[in-house]
Amino acid sequence: MLAQVSPWHAHAAQRLATIPAHALTAPARMEWSTHPGLGPGAEILGPDLRHRHILELGCGPGHNIAHLAQHHHAHATGVDLVGLQIRRARSHYGHIDGVTFAAGHALHHLQAAGRTFDVIYSVFGAVGLVAPELLLAEISHRLAPGGVLAFSVPHPARAGRHPSTDDRPREDYVTMPDHTRMPVARWEFDAHHWGAHLTRTGLSVTAALDLRDPHCDPWPTTLLIIARKR
Ligand SMILES: C[S@@+](CC[C@H](N)C(=O)[O-])C[C@H]1O[C@@H](n2cnc3c(N)ncnc32)[C@H](O)[C@@H]1O
Repeated sequence: MLAQVSPWHAHAAQRLATIPAHALTAPARMEWSTHPGLGPGAEILGPDLRHRHILELGCGPGHNIAHLAQHHHAHATGVDLVGLQIRRARSHYGHIDGVTFAAGHALHHLQAAGRTFDVIYSVFGAVGLVAPELLLAEISHRLAPGGVLAFSVPHPARAGRHPSTDDRPREDYVTMPDHTRMPVARWEFDAHHWGAHLTRTGLSVTAALDLRDPHCDPWPTTLLIIARKR
């Protein structure tokens, strides 16, 4: 697990060196991919998120957390492995009511949480970067009955690749702000394979969406999965 800290720390350090953190207004839309405006927004998390307890695993600079607290009046907590990201998120959005940011590993944060959540989500975050049999079981444990898990991951068929046929992670790369790349282990499942893992932990898939940027490749770029706790 510690091996994964380094690329994410390096990414945050480079980003902070070029763009200093300052207070921002919350984005008007929730994004599930790296292409703004692509696919659904926060509506997939439920019709009324007011006062709902929401947790993001791998929140980075916290844009989606800020959106959910500011525009939907949710109690939104963002967790990230990298303390620098949490400092950056607090500088951007710490002034918004209902927002909490915490540094830590997603798995450990869930294990230590003394409460359940109505919604847990990840946007290119911890889901896909942590062993699914461990992380999905802990997510299911911390979701209230009927609660929603939604996560987006780089599409396993992006740029002509093929999804994994086994349960092992693959070597992938994180592209740094300076365009260099650092290796990272990633679980690259298709929707069916994610569905099998989710079912084992007491979650049922309600939708799986392939998002593709019409101006880019012919291949989908993002896989978005929505599941519900039974
Ligand atoms: C590609 S960024 C996405 C950030 C954010 N979700 C967004 O959409 O802007 C991935 C983030 O996940 C965090 N991360 C990676 N592994 C994690 C883990 N095991 N627990 C918590 N955060 C993690 C990284 O530090 C990084 O900030």
